[in-house]
Amino acid sequence: MADTTTSAPAEPLLVLDGVTAGYGAGLILRGVGLTVAAGEVTCLIGPNGSGKSTTLKTISGLLKPASGTVTFKGEDISRLSARERLLRGIVHVPQDRSLFPAMTVRENVEMGGYVLRNRRLVAERWERIAAAYPLVADRANAHAGSLSGGEQKTVEIARTLMLDPVLILLDEPSIGLDPRSRTTVFRSVADLAASGRSVLLVEQNARSGLAVSHSGAVLEGGRVALTGTGAGLLTDPEVGRLYLGAADRPSTPLASSVPSRSGDHDPQD
Ligand SMILES: Nc1ncnc2c1ncn2[C@@H]1O[C@H](COP(=O)(O)OP(=O)(O)OP(=O)(O)O)[C@@H](O)[C@H]1O
Ligand SMILES: [Mg+2]
Repeated sequence: MADTTTSAPAEPLLVLDGVTAGYGAGLILRGVGLTVAAGEVTCLIGPNGSGKSTTLKTISGLLKPASGTVTFKGEDISRLSARERLLRGIVHVPQDRSLFPAMTVRENVEMGGYVLRNRRLVAERWERIAAAYPLVADRANAHAGSLSGGEQKTVEIARTLMLDPVLILLDEPSIGLDPRSRTTVFRSVADLAASGRSVLLVEQNARSGLAVSHSGAVLEGGRVALTGTGAGLLTDPEVGRLYLGAADRPSTPLASSVPSRSGDHDPQD
């Protein structure tokens, strides 16, 4: 089993305790317990249909838990609306593409601040985002639909910064991308944590996801079956057999070489 004792646990930002949820009579989540530490990347892996996206929905408020609690910064947010959670700094980037293709990149990024009333704040944040993401600045006036899948995902991630988020929920950001775009996306994830944000990352590319993550959890059948550090899960034989591919060698986990903006981390699947 994965080693969870290599470093002192950071202060929990988000805690799911006994969360059950579903879309009708049947439950998909059957008692999920999960902790996300402040300033860290936590990776959630698991088979198709195990409830990963559903878990993110119970955190962002798209779905209310049937039972159990979602606690954010010590506050029980289980019954709050999605908008109220957004205002507390929880931003969800869904699994499917979410840009408006006929709008420009700039309009899409500014839409990320739709709950903000202060236009000057939106303008200031636009400037900051454009400075941090050259792609956003260079393609500001292009229709979002004209960008590649990888570029669109980068814009979706950049757009979250409009709300100065505390916790970013990323649902399979690398899905359907070529290896080069995947590398860019995983670097953006590491950058978010390096700038002090917390990220809960759902990934099918388990090796790359765990490599940029301080900790991770395996969801199976609507329950967390295993937790550990990113490094620990990457070397866990059971995780390796089920999720990493037997022939693959583990990549160097980022958790052991703390993420940095200028780092040369280059995750590969
Ligand atoms: N809107 C919905 N209405 C009814 N059932 C749903 C809905 N969304 C998901 N489900 C069902 O809930 C289960 C878990 O789905 P979920 O999307 O959370 O899984 P996942 O782990 O994210 O899978 P994947 O890796 O394929 O994205 C699946 O059986 C799915 O069919
Ligand atoms: Mg999913």
